[in-house]
Amino acid sequence: MIALRSDDKTLQDELKAGGSIPKHIAIIMDGNGRWAKQRALPRVAGHREGVSSVRDIVEASGQLGVKCLTLYAFSTENWKRPQQEVSTLMRLLVKALRDETDKLHKNNVRLTAIGDLDSLPAGVQRELNEAFERTKGNSGLNLNLALSYSGRWEITEAVKKIVADSAGGKMSAEDINESLFSSYLVTASLPDPDLLIRTGGEFRISNFLLFQIAYTEIFISKVYWPDFRRRHLYEAISDFQKRERRFGLVSEQVKHLQTL
Ligand code: IPE
Ligand code: IPE
Ligand code: MG
Repeated sequence: MIALRSDDKTLQDELKAGGSIPKHIAIIMDGNGRWAKQRALPRVAGHREGVSSVRDIVEASGQLGVKCLTLYAFSTENWKRPQQEVSTLMRLLVKALRDETDKLHKNNVRLTAIGDLDSLPAGVQRELNEAFERTKGNSGLNLNLALSYSGRWEITEAVKKIVADSAGGKMSAEDINESLFSSYLVTASLPDPDLLIRTGGEFRISNFLLFQIAYTEIFISKVYWPDFRRRHLYEAISDFQKRERRFGLVSEQVKHLQTL
């Protein structure tokens, strides 16, 4: 009889032995509304259940040694949703921060966020700032929440700052290159994502990390976010490990670089 490979530690060890674990994973957590609709529940029930998925994926990512996990939780465009849904999402965020920060801290997780954080309600900003302050010294997983975030907003803001710095004499046009531009993005301190997962089955980017995903591997899962658990994450990482990232080169060059 074949033994069941249900043991989580075994699965994690197999992944660690199977290839490199992505340093930075970014996730578009989509499908909460459809998950709820399928069950004839209000959309907010999907958002609520989605918090359990976040908990599981954060824990498993930390155990696997992922350095950074960026979760797309609320986009610039999501402000245009019905006001009641927006306020429920904000309330859920405050509750999740209150409930989870202790555990995150105990697990050595450092919480950060990217996006137009000033546009968030004062209560959300307060909880976030407390959680940032509390976890800033942690050296394990960096859990990075994208809140009121969009790639176009971020790029536009970067251009504004570059123009201001240039007008102030801090730089000239010749100084601008990809690396300088990256340093003006809200992800300045982070490596580009190695793996981007989108749950809920849509094949689109929805304004997420437009500049940073130039060479990111993409994995689309049909699973709605509230059903997405660590075994789905393992599947995505295992798929990632089977790919050859060529960064525009030919296969032989990539293999040669790997042996250096
Ligand atoms: C993702 O789920 C959560 C947010 C965008 C805040 P959705 O609410 O977009 O769920 P679907 O895509 O409508 O199913
Ligand atoms: C993307 O999901 C944003 C987040 C997951 C926060 P959306 O549901 O907003 O994206 P679209 O509307 O399907 O493109
Ligand atoms: Mg959606």
